Amino acid sequence: MNENYPNSLSIAPMMDWSDRHYRAFMRLITNRTLLYTEMLTAAAVIHGDRKRLLGFSPLEHQIALQLGGSDPGQLAEAAKIGEDFGYDEINLNVGCPSDRVQSGRFGAALMLEPKLVAKCVSAMQKAVPIPVTVKCRVGVDEQAVGETLPNFIKIVADADCQTFIIHARKAWLKGLSPKQNREIPPLDYPLVNAMKRQFPKLSIIINGGLLDLSQAMSASEDLDGAMIGRAAYHNPWIFSQADKQVFNDKKPPVTRAQVVQGLIEYTAIEQASGTRLHDITRHILGLFAGEAGARKWRQILSVEGVKPGADWRVIAKAAQMVLPEEFVA
Ligand SMILES: Cc1cc2nc3c(=O)[nH]c(=O)nc-3n(C[C@H](O)[C@H](O)[C@H](O)COP(=O)(O)O)c2cc1C
Repeated sequence: MNENYPNSLSIAPMMDWSDRHYRAFMRLITNRTLLYTEMLTAAAVIHGDRKRLLGFSPLEHQIALQLGGSDPGQLAEAAKIGEDFGYDEINLNVGCPSDRVQSGRFGAALMLEPKLVAKCVSAMQKAVPIPVTVKCRVGVDEQAVGETLPNFIKIVADADCQTFIIHARKAWLKGLSPKQNREIPPLDYPLVNAMKRQFPKLSIIINGGLLDLSQAMSASEDLDGAMIGRAAYHNPWIFSQADKQVFNDKKPPVTRAQVVQGLIEYTAIEQASGTRLHDITRHILGLFAGEAGARKWRQILSVEGVKPGADWRVIAKAAQMVLPEEFVA
């Protein structure tokens, strides 16, 4: 990881998962890790309910908005709206392989159209002073990635993109589900490293298959940073040492009890403005992954968290199962 690169560790954009409640939760664990929104299409940002789609708490900074689309004008407009909302970075999705996304001619299918991506990025970067970054795959389908990936990066970098987050596997546009496309095509970390050697001035972030901080740090040893997705969701506690280990923060790392206390306070405030308990608790099931009592924690949250009238007390009750000394019945 490059110590001079400010966002050397990030949590991936994950549709349906990395919403504002999940991000607020992760902020209780790590202050410094860059957080990404779920992907929003440029059209949704322009025409949708902006406050609901784009709103976030100031505590979530540093936060990047991920956009999907392939119309340069629309993307530029959506990027500007995102910047006005206070996002710190705008990211373009060139990695998502779902059918719905392909039919819109964006996501991973754009790996086949570097010149169009360049136009999009250039229009977006002209519209906003904050960084515009690209999250991409190493390639799609039968592409000879040793040639097509550097070609893609060169063309898009020339259009004013300094940072590429590379999910280190191909996407198969036909025949694999999005989930299979995160598992079946093999990971190719050496290719991502080769891109950094070929384009040393660009910031290259590696993504895909990283299970914890030490894997993230070693995979990005010669790169600028690493992004973690599924492991950050299923096992969020792997980020508890991130501020210290990755960002050299001097503050003592938080304890799980402090995180639970923060969650209780957050939930009480959110529920007062109409948020359902389950919208928050569904993201926190993994907090005690691997610890004694983890099953009970998940069970109470899942069963009692959806009952009518359930409130923050359900979190306190679940915490009694795993932290009986800190959360007394
Ligand atoms: C539930 C889920 C939703 C995802 N949604 C997005 C998305 O909206 N945009 C995107 O670029 N990638 C999305 N991804 C891909 C992740 O950002 C990441 O690239 C991928 O999971 C590989 O990283 P990992 O092995 O650390 O999970 C999603 C992944 C998951 C598991």
